[in-house]
Amino acid sequence: MGLGPYLEAVMSIYYQKSFQRSFGTFPLNGDALLGAIDAAVQVGFRAFDTAQMYGNEAATGEALAASGIGRQDLCITTKVMAENFSDARFLVSVEQSLKDLRMDHVDVLLVHWPPADGDITPSLQQLQKAQERGLTRHIGVSNYTVTMMQKAVQVLDVPIVTNQVEFHPLLDQTVLMKGANALGIPLSAYCAIARGEVFRRPLLSEIGLEYGKSAAQIALRWTLQKGVSVNVMSTRPANIAANFDIMDFTLSNVDMARIDELTRENHRIVNKSLAPFAPDFD
Ligand SMILES: NC(=O)c1ccc[n+]([C@@H]2O[C@H](COP(=O)([O-])OP(=O)(O)OC[C@H]3O[C@@H](n4cnc5c(N)ncnc54)[C@H](OP(=O)(O)O)[C@@H]3O)[C@@H](O)[C@H]2O)c1
Repeated sequence: MGLGPYLEAVMSIYYQKSFQRSFGTFPLNGDALLGAIDAAVQVGFRAFDTAQMYGNEAATGEALAASGIGRQDLCITTKVMAENFSDARFLVSVEQSLKDLRMDHVDVLLVHWPPADGDITPSLQQLQKAQERGLTRHIGVSNYTVTMMQKAVQVLDVPIVTNQVEFHPLLDQTVLMKGANALGIPLSAYCAIARGEVFRRPLLSEIGLEYGKSAAQIALRWTLQKGVSVNVMSTRPANIAANFDIMDFTLSNVDMARIDELTRENHRIVNKSLAPFAPDFD
């Protein structure tokens, strides 16, 4: 495949300004999720991230239907869980996700985790089939290592629009990013504020004072300036608004480098104790 269609697919989605900031839905459900999505829509979020594993696609669909935002203005990502990777279950499970979401397609469909047996080919082939059937506009992966990304581009005939991975100022992802860049696969960040861990580092608040922004906003902005789109979750309207309000300033190279220093800590939130099925990350 030439670079043309590849870039076209990639540029059409998470690089669009309105979709660079995505609202994460885990672990919310029910009224908490309805309230959070309502607040997120009101401040301007148009990209939303859910997953079969979260058990909240139906509530996400309900909230988005109630929002009144036109489908064409939304970017919806969901993820197929490994339990549904078999040929018999994959597409059926995506159809169920769409039913729950009240949509006839999603914008990005991801495989949530590499399968336990390490053989990524069958689930990638099913993912491509889902796209060919029009169930999703784009496809991507999540929690893939560099080796897996390299294999995935060989297996697939279509572009991978993202590898969604843990990414924040307390984690060194330079190896992964180098590998992704070499393949032209954009990364997107989950746990973009390290589930609050970033607040334990005074540097981010200190830098925030220079820009009139909070530590969370500095962390999110650092990630965006790395060329990585962000997924962030909050239940509080003030935090939701702050997390969206990160486009009106630019961190200097010096401040980017100061924050880079924090990554040496290499603090991974979603590690093997939380996710025993995780691969050996780069
Ligand atoms: N692909 C994967 O395997 C994977 C794994 C994990 C997550 N994800 C996705 O990524 C999304 C984001 O990750 P995450 O929810 O795990 O972690 P996160 O967004 O880093 O952290 C969420 C936590 O941070 C707090 N918070 C958010 N904004 C804040 C602010 N401005 N100031 C202070 N506190 C703030 C929230 O509390 P309050 O409610 O009090 O604001 C919440 O407890 C998830 O919702 C999910 O959609 C994907």
